[in-house]
Amino acid sequence: MPAKATLKLENKDVQLPIIIGTEGERAVDIRNLRNETGYVCYDEGFGNTGSCESAITFIDGEVGILRYRGYPIEQLAEHSSFIETAYLIINGELPTPAQRKRFSQLLTENAPIHSSTEHLYEGFPWDAHPMAILSAMLNSLGCYYPHLATNDHQRDLQNFEETAAIIISKVRTIAAYSYRASRGLPYNYPRRDLPYCENFLHMMFSTPFEPYIALPEVAQALNLFLLLHADHEQNCSTSTVRTVASSGANLFASTAAGVCALWGPLHGGANMAVLEMLKSIHAEGDDGTKFIELAKSGKADRRLMGFGHRVYKHYDPRAKIIKESFYSALASLGIKDDPLLNIAMRLEAAALKDDYFLSRKLYPNVDFYSGLIMRAIGIPENMFTVMFAIGRMPGWIANWKEVAANGKGRIYRPRQIYVGPTKRDYVPPHQRH
Ligand code: CMC
Repeated sequence: MPAKATLKLENKDVQLPIIIGTEGERAVDIRNLRNETGYVCYDEGFGNTGSCESAITFIDGEVGILRYRGYPIEQLAEHSSFIETAYLIINGELPTPAQRKRFSQLLTENAPIHSSTEHLYEGFPWDAHPMAILSAMLNSLGCYYPHLATNDHQRDLQNFEETAAIIISKVRTIAAYSYRASRGLPYNYPRRDLPYCENFLHMMFSTPFEPYIALPEVAQALNLFLLLHADHEQNCSTSTVRTVASSGANLFASTAAGVCALWGPLHGGANMAVLEMLKSIHAEGDDGTKFIELAKSGKADRRLMGFGHRVYKHYDPRAKIIKESFYSALASLGIKDDPLLNIAMRLEAAALKDDYFLSRKLYPNVDFYSGLIMRAIGIPENMFTVMFAIGRMPGWIANWKEVAANGKGRIYRPRQIYVGPTKRDYVPPHQRH
């Protein structure tokens, strides 16, 4: 492989170094291109741009490979838990038993939120979207820990272990409280005796007169859902977290920004959009056939939600795992015939035979089935994307750390190709027509 690439520009040969990642990923290093030539690269949507070097997650979308810190997602899904995987993603290695115990203790200690934050919930309209609440509350959480949110990366890194545990643990409490607030229900305090997922379900669904005891299969399905969402390389929200972090911002502010980026229907909001799509197909009495035809129109508002991916040009490995586990969760919940699941399966089967989808390499992504899983375990629809945010938190935290710890890092500041008016003189109001 050549060490340099040659770019011919205005009869001049420009030498550009080649960078090769540990999995053989190749990149042309254009960092000096503008200095040397005055040219920049144009790559709307960054589909061909490596914005950073990262040691966290590897994806080969052509063949459907996903690995966290080198470990295949299939092995982690089978043997690990969300919390162990979160530790791996954040710290780079699977924890020893002592490290695992300490991490659990930190999470347990940090599960409650300051009682004054309960007043903040009262300030939101009763029907506020929980993603808006989550983002606002995460950012305001930093106000309660000014010594952990100094916006001085060196100081913030000294307390990183504590800050990471606070966010991983409290995000679930904040999320459950936003649901309770939206329903006008009293808050359930976290319990010290419950593991991560069971504790979240208790905070969501226990009532003052009846504790919610999660079925093991339900807790397991939630655990798997969170684990499968724990990181996914430089997606829209993670690169947002890195962008915000690159300005020196603290971990609370950076993850709050990640929540905002995740909210949209082309990213984390897709799981909710899938369910809405399935429900409307069902309500119209369509079995999916009509909808598939509409989805091929190419119109953005007619897309087959839960299909397609910027990097996967093959079946998303997470979709495969979630689909398989879905059936056992349904069986344990006694759900035998779900009309929405039937429509989803028909849509998938039809799309996988259709030239429109095949030629564009559009396969089911993780969101195609994750909404159905959430629904089966009783999570309300407007909380689906919040669940994604809880799951993605370890990835955002690990990416923030990479940015903060990179002494040579630069602020993220892309260029643009200006296509607006050229210079013109100011027109006084009375001369404007
Ligand atoms: N249904 C119908 N057509 C589609 C779809 C779809 N779901 N996705 C892409 N296309 C078509 C698109 O119209 C375009 O066609 P043409 O070449 O004729 O113009 C072609 O496929 C390429 O699409 P693109 O918009 O250039 O692809 P992208 O890489 O910019 O977008 C995507 C990726 C995930 C935003 C897109 O596939 C999509 O909107 N999918 C539905 C939303 C969804 O499920 N999002 C969740 C992504 S997975 C969770 C996560 O990681 O956030």
